[in-house]
Amino acid sequence: MDLNKHLHKLHQIGIALSSERNLERLLEKILSEARSFTCSQAASLYIKSEMGLHFAVSQNEILQRNCPENQKFIFSQEILPVSSDSIAGYVALTGKLVNVANVYEIPENAPYRFNPSFDKANNYQSISMLVVPMKDIQDEIIGVLALINAQNQQKEIIPFDHQYEFLVLSLASQAAVAYINANLTKKLKEAYLDTIFRLAIAAECKEPDIKGHLERISFYSMILAEELGLSSQEIENIRYASPMHDIGKIGIPDTILFKPAKLTEEEYEEIKKHTIYGAKILANSKVEILQISEQIALTHHENFDGTGYPQCIKGEKIFLPGRIVTLADVFDALATKRYYKESWDFATILEYIKERSGTQFDPMVVEAFLRRFKDFIEINENYPKE
Ligand SMILES: [Fe+2]
Ligand SMILES: [Fe+2]
Repeated sequence: MDLNKHLHKLHQIGIALSSERNLERLLEKILSEARSFTCSQAASLYIKSEMGLHFAVSQNEILQRNCPENQKFIFSQEILPVSSDSIAGYVALTGKLVNVANVYEIPENAPYRFNPSFDKANNYQSISMLVVPMKDIQDEIIGVLALINAQNQQKEIIPFDHQYEFLVLSLASQAAVAYINANLTKKLKEAYLDTIFRLAIAAECKEPDIKGHLERISFYSMILAEELGLSSQEIENIRYASPMHDIGKIGIPDTILFKPAKLTEEEYEEIKKHTIYGAKILANSKVEILQISEQIALTHHENFDGTGYPQCIKGEKIFLPGRIVTLADVFDALATKRYYKESWDFATILEYIKERSGTQFDPMVVEAFLRRFKDFIEINENYPKE
């Protein structure tokens, strides 16, 4: 490839990287682009922090091929010190690029050492290596990109051509900028979702074990959505929207909510309004997750046969995430001990839900639940009640 073609390719990679907002996918993309650009067998990316170099992602043609469950190769040292004890550490320390023809033949007087722990742990042999710093616009090193074992067309290992050095350096700085952006997006999203979750807890903080209940609901709903073949975006939306299903309970007086005796007809009618109050609290948001929460809050007590509340709608007229949360909520309520009842055993719950397929629950959701029953039990056991 001539220089023009290289530059053109680099430009295309830059555009592809800058449009990726998902951090994990971005890191994978950086590695695969850098590998295909240099025809290398393997590559690793480390992110620098005060503690050292954190291994972020790695690709290895040979080990991945030999390993049925992709990427299960071992990283003996997850945090490398920023020091000359390893090539990546040296690059992170000095910001200098290192291009070595054979890492096992590094001269004694070289300013860095090769750390063979990865090779040893995985029975792999690194030979040639091109390791470059990832610098941000302020020229600060945020990470290290290591390309391992360049190959010629016959797949023989060769040294990295010096003409790649500048190009890989440019690629690494584009990667650095994209990483900073994607990481910022991730942190903002985490902060936002964490706030939403705490809001849901705040609304029901007088309920015992509310945090556990909301976390479990979130996972059950996610599993059902997954099993029903929804898109990864829809699954994520349900995961974060479902904990707010009962947020409207904030509008119900405690004297009714925690009444130790049987509720009167009137009081029960008041409790039912938590669906409407919840929808009101969440209404008119521009945020997709809150729009979904609004519909879940409104519909999570509707029954598939139209006998639920508050709107008595039936079948597919009920919002699908609402039908999902209905089952998740009932499962968790039955599996949890309350002051007025014991927890039910899983076999009884299974029968209860099966019996109500088509009446209380959507048969399609019940089918999905039956296929993932084991996961429900696992979640229930992993989030023990307080
Ligand atoms: Fe509810
Ligand atoms: Fe609930």
